[in-house]
Amino acid sequence: MKPILLLHGPNLNLLGTREPEIYGSLTLDEINARIIAAGREQGVEVRAFQSNSEGTLIDTLHEARNWAGGVVFNPGGYTHTSIALRDTIAAIGIPVIEVHLSNVYAREEFRHTSLLSGVCKGKITGFGWRSYWLGLLALVKILEE
Ligand code: DQA
Repeated sequence: MKPILLLHGPNLNLLGTREPEIYGSLTLDEINARIIAAGREQGVEVRAFQSNSEGTLIDTLHEARNWAGGVVFNPGGYTHTSIALRDTIAAIGIPVIEVHLSNVYAREEFRHTSLLSGVCKGKITGFGWRSYWLGLLALVKILEE
């Protein structure tokens, strides 16, 4: 199976100290280590990357077409604003699973709208770091089929 891209958007580099009552106390490195290990158990390589920049996230998704089987993506705040990222996900032709640590539907109304969900394979929200884990398992099963 091709490797999986684990992609994190803006402000997720601050995990551990960023609103821990909402996002938990694990750092991004700790989450990445868990998901990379979970991938290894599934026999798949997971490559993690984070950027605060919309353009860099778009470039990373473009490049992923050449090597990744699919993407587990937490787009952070761009979820609710980015037509450009929606167009990218629609264009790249590999499955993208949208994940969120928090339950966006239990929060402010502006978080209830995702511009990305309609072009993603599916969406997992509200399970803390395990949202990534669930997203990874879903993607592996899809890619195995
Ligand atoms: C988030 C939810 C978004 O609304 C927010 O802007 C984030 C994190 C989450 O993982 O719960 O940055 O994607």
